[in-house]
Amino acid sequence: NNHLVIMAGGVGSRFWPMSTEKLPKQFIDILGCGKTLLQLTVDRFKGICLPENVWVVTSAQYEDIVKEQLPDMPEGHVLLEPCRRNTAPCIAYVSWKIKTLNPKANIVVTPSDHIVMDSREFARVITSAMKFTADSDAIVTLGMKATRPETGYGYIEADMSMASPSNKEIYRVDAFKEKPDLETARRYVQHNNFFWNAGIFIWNVNTIVNAMRVYQPPIAEIFERMIPYYHTEKEQEMVNELFPMCENISIDYAVMEKADEIFVFPASFGWSDLGTWGSLHENSKKDAHNNVCVGENIKLHETRNCIVHTTQEKKVVIQGLDGYIVAEKNDTLLICRLTEEQRIKTFSEE
Ligand code: GDD
Ligand code: MG
Repeated sequence: NNHLVIMAGGVGSRFWPMSTEKLPKQFIDILGCGKTLLQLTVDRFKGICLPENVWVVTSAQYEDIVKEQLPDMPEGHVLLEPCRRNTAPCIAYVSWKIKTLNPKANIVVTPSDHIVMDSREFARVITSAMKFTADSDAIVTLGMKATRPETGYGYIEADMSMASPSNKEIYRVDAFKEKPDLETARRYVQHNNFFWNAGIFIWNVNTIVNAMRVYQPPIAEIFERMIPYYHTEKEQEMVNELFPMCENISIDYAVMEKADEIFVFPASFGWSDLGTWGSLHENSKKDAHNNVCVGENIKLHETRNCIVHTTQEKKVVIQGLDGYIVAEKNDTLLICRLTEEQRIKTFSEE
């Protein structure tokens, strides 16, 4: 009954100009390991879910890219959104569709922009959480130890006083706060019962469908109307007509901040969201001056704490920079202080 849902329709705008709307970061071999982030995500779940139970949800514009990168996907398992509506409608669509196939399905939903170091521990945690949700109507999140006041993550406040009787590693959640401001995040990281939300959710299909019905009735109603069409020839046509009516909202704001029956599985398997240039810098091999260089022909003088990334053959010479991103792709060159990297999203939109 275990199903895997991979969300792969984001634009990755904080990784601009490497990540662009035409080719977002999940479809790029960012780590230089020979596999894209999407392919690494599929690999991570081998042994947890059967290949015939894997689903990818993405924008229609990326259909060819997904099918090329994942040639073994079962027919009909790449779901295509006609427009971007963030993760709540994405999750609703695939959940209702899975429910019409198997009302007892158990689901793990994952982003496609993560790196995980310890894949064995990762598999153990997901499998254990899926056992828990198989017979309990719980929303299970994975809690990562919050080590800095990061404002790009959701925060989970756990009630650590009592573990769940059926799984001693799982705790009740008192509150969920998506992307707090810096001051709030600073307050959170001082306590050891606050965790980062890894963005991976585990639940059975009834739990998420019911949560959508309670907290997002207009979205739920759209996918109820779709019921006669899932797994038929008319499905895409109906999705194209109805999906754009969904509100543009992430699952974190739509459900997680509102729901009561949330649990957290505190885990540590070496995790990072490759969301920004800083996270790539953090997770890459550095030279003696804490620089990360990706590119053929980069020469640095008196330069430290920088990330320099070029995708075309071009000589790059830098002198005297400290704490900067220098990134070049096609017709674009970005030079930005690492401390200001959250603004890159706005720059790319401009
Ligand atoms: N299909 C589809 N459609 N996928 C989408 C869409 C969409 O409209 N928008 C985003 N995604 C995919 C992205 O490609 C990514 O893999 C995943 O959904 C999460 O979206 P992000 O945009 O990367 O979210 P985030 O990183 O800002 O925040 C989420 O993840 C954090 C941890 O990585 C939240 O869940 C936070 O609470 C969490 O801390
Ligand atoms: Mg992300």
